[in-house]
Amino acid sequence: MNYTVVLPAAGSGKRMGAEGNKLFLKLRGKPILAHTLEVFQQDEWCEQIILAIKEEERHLIKVCLREYHLTKVTKLVVGGKERQHSVCEALKAAEGAELVLVHDAARPFIQQQVIHKLVEVAAEQGGAVAAVKAKDTMKLVRNGRVEETIDRETLWAIQTPQAFRYQLLVDAAKQADEQGFVGTDEAMLAERAGLPVYIVESSYDNQKMTTPEDLVLGELILTRREENN
Ligand code: CTP
Ligand code: MG
Repeated sequence: MNYTVVLPAAGSGKRMGAEGNKLFLKLRGKPILAHTLEVFQQDEWCEQIILAIKEEERHLIKVCLREYHLTKVTKLVVGGKERQHSVCEALKAAEGAELVLVHDAARPFIQQQVIHKLVEVAAEQGGAVAAVKAKDTMKLVRNGRVEETIDRETLWAIQTPQAFRYQLLVDAAKQADEQGFVGTDEAMLAERAGLPVYIVESSYDNQKMTTPEDLVLGELILTRREENN
């Protein structure tokens, strides 16, 4: 089942505290961006990859694509101020796709079996997001005071990829834009538009590289994968 993937890569990585875009930081000698792109390059179901980038990084990105033979990247579009704006620009460039996946370029450890399940559920239901069970006890707190403990069985931590029938997501994004709503993920836009979104259980490995500790974890994941192969 074919899909187009849209990867927002136009952030600045402030929380990582690196000099420039964190996506150029290396894990096992290879940029985070290349690790993420390779997953989709190797997935037969992936028809094309569209990247949202910063104009000033266009050259660096092109060099990376060439070096790692990432031939499925068809378009580099200029992203926006917030992640949602970057995704929106990339979605426009995906016109004609039936199924679209949105995935943070900063999550290099996504596995193909999760991607395929997401695509299947989205094709059938409209929308599907990768998620893991909450590990901790979760409480609702207001002004520092605990109001209640929320049943953990009902709580999921949401990741990307998030997969949708293309037109459903575009319409939901348009509606959000018109109402000046900025969400933290695509599912929020779909939920607001009243569309059904289902979860697909993913892995705790599919961590976003956000702060320096995540890089340590990233190296460990790669070591473990090497040992298992
Ligand atoms: N992103 C984007 N456009 C933006 C902001 C973020 O394309 N205006 C991308 C990032 O490049 C990243 C993904 O969205 O791949 C997830 O965002 P996040 O982890 O928050 O990355 P940054 O925004 O770069 O990091 P920070 O928030 O720490 O500055
Ligand atoms: Mg950010």
